[in-house]
Amino acid sequence: MKRIGILTSGGDAPGMNACIRAAVRTATAANVEVLGIRRGYNGLIHNEMAALDRKCVANIIQRGGTVLETSRCPEFKTPEGRARAIEVLDEAGIVGLLLLGGDGTFRGGTLLADECDISIVGVPTTIDNDVYGTDYTIGFDTAINTALEAIDRIRDTALSHERLFFVEVMGHHTGFIALESGIAGGAEELIIPEMPLSSEELCAKLKEAFNRGKKSAIVVVAEAEQPGYSFQIAQEVKKNIDVESRVCILGHIQRGGSPTARDRVLASSLGAAAVKALLSGKNGYMVGEINNEIAYTALADTWEKKKGLSPRLEELVSLLSA
Ligand code: F6P
Repeated sequence: MKRIGILTSGGDAPGMNACIRAAVRTATAANVEVLGIRRGYNGLIHNEMAALDRKCVANIIQRGGTVLETSRCPEFKTPEGRARAIEVLDEAGIVGLLLLGGDGTFRGGTLLADECDISIVGVPTTIDNDVYGTDYTIGFDTAINTALEAIDRIRDTALSHERLFFVEVMGHHTGFIALESGIAGGAEELIIPEMPLSSEELCAKLKEAFNRGKKSAIVVVAEAEQPGYSFQIAQEVKKNIDVESRVCILGHIQRGGSPTARDRVLASSLGAAAVKALLSGKNGYMVGEINNEIAYTALADTWEKKKGLSPRLEELVSLLSA
């Protein structure tokens, strides 16, 4: 293998740069050239690429976002878009492609792998942690720590004003961010898609807590299907509980910032392992980490199979909340 390409796609995630750095350095050490493809599948279709050497990736391990830039690319969902991408890859002499992204990226990658002879390996990078085949995705640890810092700050003002706060976190359709930031932040209640809680149940639990003497509380809400959903919950609760409340939506703050040490180490380890996988002839796999070991999962499984929340953490929620 003489030349490989690398791209970042979908929502950016802290640690993408650390992963690019590790991949480029591992490849160049093996005398393999790397082309960095800009703006994800969009840049691939439009042939936006440049060579990356060791020096190009110096001083990026600590930076959030992605130096390659990213996008969501509807055109890549069409056979015509992917055919154009394959032409570009062939013209550039790319024989192996590294995809850094989440489930949407790997859906596209699965189709691409079926349609061309280029070897494809994925690395899970998304703050949502919703990719099957890895315990943690790159970016998740930073995102939960960012959410936690916000929750701690909100706790100060909630206590001072004796208020009930609904703090909405990202996570797409899943509750990984809400679960871990909620447990770490001592949230009184969590609203996450995997652990349904009706409005009546939530009100009953909060009422009981306030009757016991609580003066303030934090409910962490996963954005789930509807970002902004916490406004609706706050309205419903207001009808039943006589406590002043506020809503705080953390939004894209959770996607930015310098990656934590844990994310940098995971990103470096998976970036290097992904290049080694490509060079050893692996094709159509994602490289993840399960129980501290490198794990290879068929790209199709990463988005077709559903990753569940940790039952141990789910149990903790019922033990520790309110
Ligand atoms: O990258 C994942 C994510 O941040 C999800 O948590 C969120 O639902 C989505 O991306 C938001 O995407 P966009 O920035 O395209 O609105």
